[in-house]
Amino acid sequence: MENNAKSDGCPAVTPGRGANGTAMKIAVSGKGGSGKTTIAGTLARILGRQGQRVLAIDADPAPNLAITLGISREQAEAITSIPRDLLERRAGLEGDTVLVLKKTTREIIEGFGVEAPDNVTLLLMATVDHAGAG
Ligand SMILES: Nc1ncnc2c1ncn2[C@@H]1O[C@H](COP(=O)(O)OP(=O)(O)OP(=O)(O)O)[C@@H](O)[C@H]1O
Ligand SMILES: [Mg+2]
Repeated sequence: MENNAKSDGCPAVTPGRGANGTAMKIAVSGKGGSGKTTIAGTLARILGRQGQRVLAIDADPAPNLAITLGISREQAEAITSIPRDLLERRAGLEGDTVLVLKKTTREIIEGFGVEAPDNVTLLLMATVDHAGAG
């Protein structure tokens, strides 16, 4: 048995952290109406209450994670999403095209993050303006 394993054989992991102590990223996706927002919001708040700094990102084109996180409907409707033009197309070294973020993650969080209860910060992803060819 490894040193950091518990008696049930599972590694002893700090909540909100991966087995090696690094920050954990959790993506919730799935079928419409299957409870994604409820699970994502509840998980974010539980981890936040346990003392983790949680960044919740709502990528739903019809975002409503804010309400599950405990933000008022009025405040939720006033949230500015991350602008689409933060991503810039640049020529890559091998003649390819690469997408580059014009701001650092810290600048994006400081500029667009909304403080929610339970140690959670919410970011709204830019939504698609209209459908186009793929
Ligand atoms: N475990 C559960 N038991 C019963 N009802 C639930 C449960 N989880 C979520 N719900 C309810 O099911 C409905 C859909 O949940 P939710 O909005 O979280 O799903 P979703 O996958 O995010 O939906 P959408 O695809 O529309 O974004 C909501 O009314 C929610 O309150
Ligand atoms: Mg949802």
